[in-house]
Amino acid sequence: MEIRAAHAEDEPPIEAIVARAFGEEPDGPVVHMIRALNESGATQISLVADDDGIVGHVQLSTAWIDARPRLVDALTLTPLSVVPERQRQGIGTRLLEEALTAADERGAAAVLLEGDPDYYSRHGFTSAVSLNVLRPSLRIPEPGFQIARLSSYEDWMTGYVIYPDALWKTDMVGLRDPRLASIENALRINANLPYAADRE
Ligand SMILES: CC(C)(COP(=O)(O)OP(=O)(O)OC[C@H]1O[C@@H](n2cnc3c(N)ncnc32)[C@H](O)[C@@H]1OP(=O)(O)O)[C@@H](O)C(=O)NCCC(=O)NCCS
Repeated sequence: MEIRAAHAEDEPPIEAIVARAFGEEPDGPVVHMIRALNESGATQISLVADDDGIVGHVQLSTAWIDARPRLVDALTLTPLSVVPERQRQGIGTRLLEEALTAADERGAAAVLLEGDPDYYSRHGFTSAVSLNVLRPSLRIPEPGFQIARLSSYEDWMTGYVIYPDALWKTDMVGLRDPRLASIENALRINANLPYAADRE
């Protein structure tokens, strides 16, 4: 199996495996997000796991940390997908490793993502808020907002994260109720969203 940069002709198979990994219709919200990131020019890195056909994919797009001296170039990692029948074989791990290497080579200071801390903490990510790198929406459960620091990262690179327009236009930032409320209740966190629990 090879991890390689995606080519234009890979787009249909990428969309197909992403939809399957996320359990969505072929033309579902995550596929719409990918298209919007690509069409807006936000996509910076798109890698595929190729094993006589595409079995996994990862995409990284423009983002910034709004630090006091200047905007810091970073990347946001979304989505990460492995076809269901090839999950738990280390493909996600390899895609993440190659994604961080590629991001570092591009000079990004950090990679940010929203995801399960149990999974990503094993792959170089840590809580972003612990470094004073702040989520761009209160609808991102705080423990799920994570950062991987790359070689050009420095301690002063703190502040709010700015996401590319495509993520807002496709409404793919964070979660919405009732799923948000149920995850917050599970995490017992107070996200300053009044009545969140009532909307369950
Ligand atoms: C998340 C995902 C990319 C992981 O890919 P993978 O190739 O299965 O991952 P790896 O084989 O490298 O690692 C597997 C390990 O991670 C853990 N793991 C896998 N998916 C996980 C998840 N969604 N949450 C938490 N842990 C997960 C498993 O416990 C597994 O360890 P184990 O086999 O010892 O129990 C894949 O499961 C997937 O495509 N899921 C659907 C889409 C998705 O949720 N993407 C992430 C959005 S943030």
